[in-house]
Amino acid sequence: MGGYEDIFRASTDDPEAFWLRAAQAIDWHVAPTRALDGSRPPFYRWFPDGELNVCHNALDRHVDAGRGEQAALIYDSPVSGTQRTYTYAELRDEVARFAGVLADLGVGRGDRVVIYLPMVPEAAVAMLACARIGAVHSVVFGGFAPKELAVRIDDATPSVIVSASCGIEGKRVIEYKPLLDKAIELATHKPSRTVILQRPQATAAMGENDVDWAEAMASATPADCVPVRATDPLYILYTSGTTGKPKGVVRDGGGYAVALRWTMPNVYDVDTGETIFTASDVGWVVGHSDIVYAPPLAGATTVLYEGKPVGTPDAGQFWRVAAEHRVKSMFTAPTAFRAIKKEDPKGELLAQYDLSHLQYLFLAGERLDPETHRWASDLLGIPVIDHWWQTETGWPIVANPAGIELLEIKPGSPTKPLPGWDVQVLDESGRPVEAGTDGAIVVKLPMPPGSLPTLWNDDERFVDSYMSEFDGYYLTGDGGRLDEDGYVFVMGRTDDVINVAGHRLSTGGMEEVLSSHPDVAECAVIGVADPMKGQVPRGFVVLKAGVDRDEEQLRSELVQLVRDQVGAVASLKDVAVVSALPKTRSGKILRKTMRGIADGVDEPVPSTIDDAAVLDMLRPVLRRE
Ligand code: COA
Ligand code: AMP
Repeated sequence: MGGYEDIFRASTDDPEAFWLRAAQAIDWHVAPTRALDGSRPPFYRWFPDGELNVCHNALDRHVDAGRGEQAALIYDSPVSGTQRTYTYAELRDEVARFAGVLADLGVGRGDRVVIYLPMVPEAAVAMLACARIGAVHSVVFGGFAPKELAVRIDDATPSVIVSASCGIEGKRVIEYKPLLDKAIELATHKPSRTVILQRPQATAAMGENDVDWAEAMASATPADCVPVRATDPLYILYTSGTTGKPKGVVRDGGGYAVALRWTMPNVYDVDTGETIFTASDVGWVVGHSDIVYAPPLAGATTVLYEGKPVGTPDAGQFWRVAAEHRVKSMFTAPTAFRAIKKEDPKGELLAQYDLSHLQYLFLAGERLDPETHRWASDLLGIPVIDHWWQTETGWPIVANPAGIELLEIKPGSPTKPLPGWDVQVLDESGRPVEAGTDGAIVVKLPMPPGSLPTLWNDDERFVDSYMSEFDGYYLTGDGGRLDEDGYVFVMGRTDDVINVAGHRLSTGGMEEVLSSHPDVAECAVIGVADPMKGQVPRGFVVLKAGVDRDEEQLRSELVQLVRDQVGAVASLKDVAVVSALPKTRSGKILRKTMRGIADGVDEPVPSTIDDAAVLDMLRPVLRRE
């Protein structure tokens, strides 16, 4: 097979041959004869004449090959005290049945289904059921508020929504149904039906459009896999951009299946019959790819974990799961490890478990700080692998390809570009910078299979957001550098996107909410460094002239407003009332300068500043002096 360098070179020398070869690992209804349609840049289409069904590849083909009794999905939920293993045959049957439920409700090929579910196996069942009948799912993370859900409903215009009576956050039961009802009330588009999974922790009152999951399943006729074009959308996944309107990242089925099937053995070193535990949420891309789709595409076993890394019942749950289910590769966000470290700094809970099967820890979702890297490596004594990806890319851009060969680990770097990713660093004028110099991280087009072909119903925003800054390149939105060995260092976002506990959020979206308060004249939200969550948002508001309010009360109103409108996941807990915001002479708020001061990094103050005295006034507030 060759080492990393050979494989990477093969992918750049002849990308089409490389990916057509990779496509042979997929069971096609009509095998593709061409890899790439590049006739309409920057809109590239992979495997344009191929036809397949992703659910067939994830489930039926393994049952047909005699592996029906192998575990496909292990649901492990300490918060509800539940564990259940689904074999491939059981999961196929469950998915086929739910596909029948959707079909009975009139969902057909190309129709959208919004899924708003906690981390229960039914989330994976619903997603795979959509794939089975060629419907397009759009999963919305449970921590988002009704308004965020409503925005996604209006954009995706689903015919059906699948949800549950409740989710469980530590010891708290969060009722989902009132949130869903509120979202439907707020949305202009109304789904024809909603399917509700009743959970015993809190049952929901059902309305006339609500269908009970269990009742519908009991009478459903299983539906078969429908072959679809490789270029048809498999799902839409909304992600935060610079404004309050999220971007509907489209994922096509063919390229995604090929890319994910490739990553399991080559990146994660997980083969058929082995187990991967990805502690994320199905609401994020990592959950889509490495909990729901990639493991079954490779015939592996996936662990779907409902709970936090700490709290209920303790900070040893990840070790318990890894030991009990003989996990080979584990994957989570660095923040989860910082949370564990805080509770159990010496890792004493680890000693209770036999982790002899665990060979790798993969981390992504935010920058992996060297200290967390060191702590996790020392504790586990196995390779701790940072890797970098985005909702848009669908799978890692840069990683240490453990399944091919383990390259030298340089703390602070997710290592090197994976095959298909031509990663470059450009300066503001679009020229490549020298090794060791920071710039905008971009990917030369075309990107490999599995990356986004466009944004849902918005080709124009796709071009504006990603393709227009540097002609012929995809703008990742991350800044960083390459070193002389070709290692990539990702230093952080260059736009108004922040990463809070591995959750991607828009400061622009939070600013829109703060500005909507009747007493607020203008505001800024910046992401500042946080020892646990990596980053947290901080808000700064200037009040309208003549407003005389109790500041404490106003602050709590503003915090509550963001919680109500964006969701608890926004984690905006700190809003300061200030008399002015620092701006350039053209009126642009100096958010980067504010962030630098708050983080204690000396950012040069731009010469275009309008009034330097404003910054002097803000400095102690930003530094919390
Ligand atoms: N449904 C409802 N509410 C949710 C939610 C969900 N699915 N997810 C988070 N929330 C709520 C939390 O309960 C919390 O509410 P609170 O302010 O009332 O306490 C709030 O949103 C913030 O959540 P979070 O940022 O997750 O903080 P936390 O203190 O609850 O947990 C961590 C911190 C680090 C333990 C947790 O964020 C974690 O495990 N992160 C890993 C993230 C991850 O896997 N990311 C995916 C990329 S790989
Ligand atoms: P999301 O689209 O939610 O997966 O978030 C993607 C963003 O998370 C990226 O653009 C980065 O800013 C950040 N990110 C993800 N993985 C890493 C990593 N390994 N190192 C640094 N940043 C990361």
